[in-house]
Amino acid sequence: MDIVEVRDLTYKYPTSSDQVLRGVSLRVKKGEFCSIIGPNGAGKTTLCNAIRGLVPHFYKGDMQGEVLINGQSTMDVSLADLALSVGFVFQNPFTQISGIAKTVFGELAFGLENLGVEPDEIRRRVSRMLEVAKLQDLAERSPFEISGGQQQRVALASIIIMEPEILVIDEPTSQLDPQSTEEIFEIIQLMKMQGKTIILVEHKIDLVAQYSDHVVLIEDGSIVMDGSTDEILSDPAVLQHGTSLPQFALLGIEMRKRGYRLDKIPITEAQAVEQIGGYFTEKAVD
Ligand SMILES: Nc1ncnc2c1ncn2[C@@H]1O[C@H](COP(=O)(O)OP(=O)(O)OP(=O)(O)O)[C@@H](O)[C@H]1O
Ligand SMILES: [Mg+2]
Repeated sequence: MDIVEVRDLTYKYPTSSDQVLRGVSLRVKKGEFCSIIGPNGAGKTTLCNAIRGLVPHFYKGDMQGEVLINGQSTMDVSLADLALSVGFVFQNPFTQISGIAKTVFGELAFGLENLGVEPDEIRRRVSRMLEVAKLQDLAERSPFEISGGQQQRVALASIIIMEPEILVIDEPTSQLDPQSTEEIFEIIQLMKMQGKTIILVEHKIDLVAQYSDHVVLIEDGSIVMDGSTDEILSDPAVLQHGTSLPQFALLGIEMRKRGYRLDKIPITEAQAVEQIGGYFTEKAVD
């Protein structure tokens, strides 16, 4: 059984003039890192809302089809119960921060306190989380007086600490510099290594290529491509759907056009070195 299954989902917000998702079907396996890509307004966030159950519990609107989490329809589970298995990290960390806790430590403890977890256990989990998210030095700072990258790490950590099986993460790095982006991806990668299922919306296609197992391309409310990361991100058809390809794939495609023989189109730096490195003679560097 797949941990997430979206079955023929069609959805319209109460105020949207048209359907925003049209017959979307998707399966995500347990432990998989699935990235959702596609142009602005395609419906990526709405699909995340549906997986988290906010569609239709919170947003209402007209929904057909269903979303199953561990085989159970989101319609049959309350939002609070869904939150225990599906953690949702929003695009803007500001939206995520409670505004109640005075410190980063308190912010991470907040959700656990609400669940009635024992204080000793809370301290233990918060300390470990501060370490994982490299937030130790900020534990006593206000969540509102730290940088955007640090805030995003707090937002991500405040969800991870609840130990959901599935992490839905919507464009976590859109407002971050390359260094902060890298730090966020390291945390997500660590969660993947711990067996969590990751569903990530991300425009930075080189990072999608580097980290995901599975890529889904949404355009205008429909899934137009769905497959392994290698398969999808080496396919020039992606460019026809308002989405970019990794720089190494573009290079490989261009080289093939010019008559170079490549066994496959590389999508990451490591694959590029393997596939096309041989075409370049290395210059000796003193
Ligand atoms: N709360 C809402 N009420 C009405 N319409 C909405 C709402 N949220 C999104 N929409 C509309 O639904 C469509 C899909 O929006 P969505 O935010 O899911 O796209 P997206 O792929 O996440 O885009 P982006 O890359 O810009 O984040 C858009 O046309 C948008 O205007
Ligand atoms: Mg979005």
